[in-house]
Amino acid sequence: MTSLADWLAGQSVDPKLASTVASMAAASVEIAGVLRQAAIKGQVVLASGTNVQGEQQKALDVISNDIVLKHLRENAAVSILISEELEEAVHLSNDGKYIIATDPLDGSSNLDVNVTVGTIFSVLDAGKGMLQPGSAQLAAAYTAYGPATNLVLTFGTSVAVFTLDDVGVFQLTDDEVEVPPATSEFAINTARERFWDEATTTYVRENVVGESGRAGKRYNMRWVGSMVADVHRILMRGGIFLYPLDSETVTKGGRLRLLYEANPMAMLIETAGGRSTTGKQGILDVVPTAIHQRVPVILGSAEEVQRVEQLYSTSG
Ligand code: AHG
Ligand code: MN
Ligand code: MN
Repeated sequence: MTSLADWLAGQSVDPKLASTVASMAAASVEIAGVLRQAAIKGQVVLASGTNVQGEQQKALDVISNDIVLKHLRENAAVSILISEELEEAVHLSNDGKYIIATDPLDGSSNLDVNVTVGTIFSVLDAGKGMLQPGSAQLAAAYTAYGPATNLVLTFGTSVAVFTLDDVGVFQLTDDEVEVPPATSEFAINTARERFWDEATTTYVRENVVGESGRAGKRYNMRWVGSMVADVHRILMRGGIFLYPLDSETVTKGGRLRLLYEANPMAMLIETAGGRSTTGKQGILDVVPTAIHQRVPVILGSAEEVQRVEQLYSTSG
């Protein structure tokens, strides 16, 4: 068995970058423990506030954010924390070299039904400022809190999966994940169909036709409602995830957030051989103008994402 610590020691990356990732992994271990016991401790409740996006926070959103902050405060390598749950970026160590952008608890609407939720994070070079495109990410990862707790991590060359053991140590269980290029599963919130654009409508319509449709095969639809769970399934066995710009989200720029949802997931998927797009450009090419900026997200198996890109290029 190779532990996360041993694996990190063997990577040719700055040891301080490795220690930044290790701090986020330690936060994840603590969050996993909190989630396991949250119902017993009465923590599956709403918090008193709303976050910067005006969304009602759950107590566990706030607790997870506090856990991340505590772990990062202990690591002098971390300069700035950008979090979904904090309106402003938090300045940590003056000598820190790295920025963490994080969604401390993704999929929190699933907390009361014991469905997989996650922590997503991205690591950026603090010397280049907070508003960097996803292509500049130094590392990207998520932790999925499911039947097993999995940390899925990349420094941009390969994607590794670690599984949390029963003494709280992440052990390497897959060192080179590859997204199958073809798939017959798609993930989209079909309840939003009336808001969709032409490309999305056409793509989904082609799929539900089945054997007589464009791809000549039957598709299945899966939608967990936790991006971490949906992306994890796609990373492991193929598929496509779509949260496109639609007529309701258009004024906000999309639903999902660029710095701590779209970018890390796009880096993981692309490193594993998949593709990602907003419909108009690669997600990793989008230059942010604000830390909580939203973006349309389409990512997953290369062949399916290419089909959606083709539909966008012809639908104007
Ligand atoms: P968060 O819990 O961090 O706000 O993120 C929820 C996101 C994402 O996880 C998921 O894919 C999407 O919202 C679900 O959206 P719908 O409510 O439209 O299904
Ligand atoms: Mn989220
Ligand atoms: Mn969240």
